[in-house]
Amino acid sequence: METQEKTIEQKAVQAKEKFEPRIVGFLCNWCAYSGADLAGVSRLQSSPNIRIIRTMCSGRVDPAMILRAFELGADGVLIAGCHFGDCHYLEGNFKTMRRIELLKMVLKRFGIDEKRLRLEWISASEAEKYARVSFEFTEQIREMGPLQLQTN
Ligand code: FES
Repeated sequence: METQEKTIEQKAVQAKEKFEPRIVGFLCNWCAYSGADLAGVSRLQSSPNIRIIRTMCSGRVDPAMILRAFELGADGVLIAGCHFGDCHYLEGNFKTMRRIELLKMVLKRFGIDEKRLRLEWISASEAEKYARVSFEFTEQIREMGPLQLQTN
């Protein structure tokens, strides 16, 4: 019995070591997406674990899209928009900030740790910030392990 438990534990440790987080990144076209692009052009490495979806504003990201990303297997979701005062649609990022705070409360009810959802403000010139955030978030999610949603 004890040997069986050890084997299960070892398998869990091995699975965690091999774990490559799947992260969906909703990046605003006008800032964070351009920052990520600049990182690539500048040959700065950023995390390959982030699957980028370009949006026209962070405020365009409906909370349902974030929940759907988790439902479809994302271990983490990054939302990155323009700094305050820089949103091309004036208040889109303020809406984003309020929505994300509310959504974090909802995530708890679904059994999803709120740390799996991260909001950042990254300008088009902040390639280094994008690269840093991408690795930081990937490592944070790796530490947390795969998201295991309860389906009943
Ligand atoms: Fe970038 Fe609104 S246009 S957050």
